[in-house]
Amino acid sequence: MQSTPAANIVALESLAASFSGRLLTDPADTAPFLTDWMGKWRGKALAVAQPDTTEDAAIIVRWCAAHQVPIVTQGGNTGMVGGGIPDADGRALLLSTRRMRRVRAVDPINNTLTVDAGVTLLEVQQAASAAGRLFPLSLSAEGSCTIGGNLATNAGGVQVLRYGNARELCLGLEVVTADGKVWDGLRGLRKDNTGYDLRDLFIGSEGTLGVITAATLKMVPQPAARMTAMAAVESPHAALRLLALAQQRLSATLTGFELMNDFCMSLAVKHFPACRKPLDTPAPWHVLLESSDPTSEEHARDSFERLMEEAMEQGLLLDAAVAASMAQSESLWHIRHCVGEAQTREGDSIKHDISVPISAIGDFIVATNAALEQASPGIRMVVFGHLGDGNLHYNVAPAEGGSGPAFRALQPLFNGIVYAAITRVNGSISAEHGIGQLKRDKLALYKSPVELELMMRLKTAFDPDNLMNPGRVLP
Ligand code: FAD
Ligand code: MLT
Ligand code: ZN
Repeated sequence: MQSTPAANIVALESLAASFSGRLLTDPADTAPFLTDWMGKWRGKALAVAQPDTTEDAAIIVRWCAAHQVPIVTQGGNTGMVGGGIPDADGRALLLSTRRMRRVRAVDPINNTLTVDAGVTLLEVQQAASAAGRLFPLSLSAEGSCTIGGNLATNAGGVQVLRYGNARELCLGLEVVTADGKVWDGLRGLRKDNTGYDLRDLFIGSEGTLGVITAATLKMVPQPAARMTAMAAVESPHAALRLLALAQQRLSATLTGFELMNDFCMSLAVKHFPACRKPLDTPAPWHVLLESSDPTSEEHARDSFERLMEEAMEQGLLLDAAVAASMAQSESLWHIRHCVGEAQTREGDSIKHDISVPISAIGDFIVATNAALEQASPGIRMVVFGHLGDGNLHYNVAPAEGGSGPAFRALQPLFNGIVYAAITRVNGSISAEHGIGQLKRDKLALYKSPVELELMMRLKTAFDPDNLMNPGRVLP
């Protein structure tokens, strides 16, 4: 039987005794945890609990299990699919990992570091850098998102084509299970074939199987030099030909290959004064590409400039700006990192985080843009993302000044067109942001009955009382 919120408010006193000052119930204190950064979802919670340690987190989960209180884990609250925001019924307890901030160990010989779940991605990168290594997961929200959230969503970002998603960068996890036990799987091993891989089940489970409290992560050597360019191209097809050439010439040193349409560039420039258009040549599409060279600055510059010359000779580029300094490289990346937030500042946008075979992207964009524009003339396409991974943020914005309920009511129409096009090329409806509450009801439409049944059985095995982030990912 589920307890009523009233009974749990009384029971909460027992928890408050151990968590003085770290169990928030005042609406002024809990408000920032109960809505997402885009303002799309609003929830309520019995309380927001802030553990400092794994043992604290285990006490909270055991209390929730004893009182049958749902538990929503939240890290940096930068998620895109409403997975870390509780329902509006106020039954759940929100467990925030933001105070779990210890870097536990750094081992430069094993190339690993072990950190608490609430350490931000930026702090993880900084800890690796202090040890003379690189932690290569990188995304625009890295100053706010936590490593626990990155693993819970199997985050991607801007260097996946070289280093992989969060999953590929994690060797071990520590997790509080749904009944409040602590599983210590913090092994820094590259090889460990000892049965089912629990780590890989928790990664990407969006808080529905357990609370990730710490992780052992892989570090890699730091590059000797980086080269960055913004290239203007005629079409996504030209961008794909540039990608193939860059992979051929730069091989594993190609670490970034991001695409954006002209509207994305204009949005970044309009909403962020520090963003300046890097090229005067008008172009419908831009590619931000980067190499990370292990040898030397000279070698990096030589091979990169040869690539750009060859691309120009082959007619793949309309123009290009190659960064001559770290500051110039950062300002090119700044444009890319501002696109996500710029579209939020512009107004409504109906988002699709899609994955398609790289070879299918050009035709996909042409055909799907045309279908959407025919369905709703005047819309503005916000198309950007990680072309090197076949992952596009394929978003639809209304005509200027057209935000509001009438536009938002078009979501099922747009989703239907985009997801049908994805199905035709055997793509995915969520490349890197996860399912959360945004796409939960779509999952049943795009997964096979066998996949769904196995996922349901796993959920029941790990969380028989359905208390871990219920109603997220699975119906
Ligand atoms: P939250 O938003 O707090 O939570 C996300 C989900 O994980 C929720 O379901 C939550 O319940 C669960 N969760 C969080 N912590 C834990 C834990 N310790 N244990 C168990 N479950 C947990 N994502 C990408 O993949 N690639 C990108 O390039 C990218 N770019 C972004 C750019 C911007 C500007 C923004 C705002 C977001 C971007 N995101 C991107 C989305 C987001 O940053 C990632 O999903 C990130 O991994 C979420 O981390 P978080 O700590 O903020 O998690
Ligand atoms: C990004 O790559 O910038 C994010 O994943 C997408 C977004 O903010 O929409
Ligand atoms: Zn992205």
